[in-house]
Amino acid sequence: MKSKVKFQIFCGNIVHCEKYPEVELLENGYIVVLDSKIVAMGPSTTLEDAKNRLNIENFSVTQLRPTQLLIPGFIDTHIHAVQYPNCGLGYDKPLLEWLNNYTYPLEKQMQNKELAKRVFEAVVKKTLSHGTTTAMYFASLYENICMILVDSVIRNGQRALVGKVNMTLMAPDDYIESQTDSIKKTIQFIEKVKEINCPLVSPVITPRFALSVDMTIMKKLGRIAREGNYHIQTHISENPCEVKLVEQLYGKKYAEVYDEAGLLTPKTILAHGVYLTDEEIELIAERGTGLSHCPESNCLLRSGMCKVKKIINMGVNVSLGTDISGGASPSILNAMRSAINTSINSNFTNNKSYGCFDWKEVFYLATLGGAKALRMDDKIGNFKEGKEFDALIIDADSENSSCDYLLPVSPLENLQKVIFTGDDRNITSVFVAGVKVK
Ligand code: GUN
Ligand code: FE
Repeated sequence: MKSKVKFQIFCGNIVHCEKYPEVELLENGYIVVLDSKIVAMGPSTTLEDAKNRLNIENFSVTQLRPTQLLIPGFIDTHIHAVQYPNCGLGYDKPLLEWLNNYTYPLEKQMQNKELAKRVFEAVVKKTLSHGTTTAMYFASLYENICMILVDSVIRNGQRALVGKVNMTLMAPDDYIESQTDSIKKTIQFIEKVKEINCPLVSPVITPRFALSVDMTIMKKLGRIAREGNYHIQTHISENPCEVKLVEQLYGKKYAEVYDEAGLLTPKTILAHGVYLTDEEIELIAERGTGLSHCPESNCLLRSGMCKVKKIINMGVNVSLGTDISGGASPSILNAMRSAINTSINSNFTNNKSYGCFDWKEVFYLATLGGAKALRMDDKIGNFKEGKEFDALIIDADSENSSCDYLLPVSPLENLQKVIFTGDDRNITSVFVAGVKVK
């Protein structure tokens, strides 16, 4: 009798990372996928053996072209879904003014369910089409609006961590919540996400930053995260005025504030970290907490240049974030280029050199680095057998290539071309948990 299970087989050039900062190329290889998972991988010469061993009878084959590559999906560890309509706006103001003048007014307007639905649908579709298979979202202050984002990611098939934003302090009178509501609505949101029980989506504890959540609430949120083993996301040390205010308010360093609240856990992602001191970086490394490097936002909001290679060298798991709408682009390819540019520029301007990123290092940050920072590297980030098949077929030869294809180049050169010149037109197909979503 013919086996009913249907395997997917992908054949061609495959690239992924196994450790920082190296890139592995499997030239003329294959990956076999069953349901959501990778069940075999190897050079094409061993495909027949794998078929026999796994009793593969019913299968489809996707054969990649020479200019195409199979790579792991991109991971965006910091993106504000609710801010998507503001991309490209307001970069004449530094962080705190930008928040008050552009960001909070838009976020408040997004209580409108119809508007929220349109915006979330657009941001999820757009990031998927740019190759973001996993996104860690700041959703909304409003719990019912957060559920609209959850609905959108599930419908479009994106892997997502979604957070209800907490704000109890120093925010506009009409855009703030009481301490009671902050905790009550957070618990309600978590319960609703758990009820849906979709393997692609999980809730994240999301105190906005130390200036908008009081210590009592931060501690309570820390406890909720600890008891439920939830992820946490927040901002840290992004802008000089912000850092100064935090130190004045709490009488200690930024990272120490979060540590006192129990918010520095191995499942926490801190966005930015531009002005962290060595002692703070050591503390963050000790706690096993991850960092989301958001180079485009750091540049556009004129926040500063993060010494991210130094942070990596001090043992922190670093990943990449678009930080929409602090960043203007929904693309992790763009974040990779921005990270390279920032690292090169910071080396021109600082006395002390922290080294420049090359394309391999940012490719790691966009894939396995993201998975490690999220502590999801047992599941995603590269093509190990047993992991989820979150993958992209990219093509260096797309309508936006200039005269590149007058001469053929090697597979790893194709990857470099896409990293430095590519956009969503170079992302031919996107798979999340084995399902083709683009
Ligand atoms: N700090 C607090 N809130 C925000 C935000 O929405 N974006 C950025 N970039 N930084 C923040
Ligand atoms: Fe942010």
